[in-house]
Amino acid sequence: MMDQNNLSTKNGVAWSSNSYAAWVNLYGTPPEVAEKIKADPEFKLRRVIHHLPELRGLNIANPLGSNGRIATALALLGANVTVFDISESNARYASELATAADIKIEYVVGEFQSTALAHAGRFDAVVMELGIVHYFADVNHFVAAVRSLISENGLVVLNEFHPLLGKSISVNSGDISLRGDYFLTSPKIARTPFEDFIDEDIPTCLIRQWNLGEIVTAFASGGFRIQRLIEHPSRHIAQLPGTYTLVATAG
Ligand SMILES: C[S@@+](CC[C@H](N)C(=O)[O-])C[C@H]1O[C@@H](n2cnc3c(N)ncnc32)[C@H](O)[C@@H]1O
Repeated sequence: MMDQNNLSTKNGVAWSSNSYAAWVNLYGTPPEVAEKIKADPEFKLRRVIHHLPELRGLNIANPLGSNGRIATALALLGANVTVFDISESNARYASELATAADIKIEYVVGEFQSTALAHAGRFDAVVMELGIVHYFADVNHFVAAVRSLISENGLVVLNEFHPLLGKSISVNSGDISLRGDYFLTSPKIARTPFEDFIDEDIPTCLIRQWNLGEIVTAFASGGFRIQRLIEHPSRHIAQLPGTYTLVATAG
């Protein structure tokens, strides 16, 4: 089993490398983005909102919540939101975004599994989106940290990249080819997602891509009842799944 410290240290360095400037280049300044999210918070939440109950007054954890755009949209609809993320640079963007949107979010900077310990049972729901599970060396340990945040009947909504395309198949202008082993268990070097939006050398990430079966089994055996597992067509090739949504309740 690989060491979480190796992953977290490398990914912490990569994600703290001026992601703030990348978000400004990609999305706009925090006040500009605040205006857009305020105009239509449901749109920002389109991948998860249909699985959540009434948001007003709901206590939501948003692990790996990055620049805080999802947290801001949730808070604009009345939820009390806590982001967990390893990057100070992301935290700065999220904090300026929340101020500009005239809402409050709590932002916990640090390694998720370590920082979750101090927040046990505080939340009604955990919401996670797009680029989460591959940052963890042990999927069972990750699921245990998620489980610790909520009490009995608490809800988890995980909208995530589908490992079939992410791990093993590449699509280039309609041409499909095998690019990797779906059953690979070792970590691999990966580009840091925001590096195209900044004119600086950004260190690489180190990720462990878990299979769909491993992820679902970790939730099913880690104190959750699986309610739904929905596979969504890829934007690049509609005949294959590009993302999925897992909805589960604790208990
Ligand atoms: C691809 S982003 C997730 C996307 C984000 N949910 C969104 O919708 O914008 C991955 C995030 O995970 C954070 N991260 C990576 N490893 C982490 C860890 N072990 N603990 C906490 N945060 C981590 C990074 O700082 C980054 O913000």
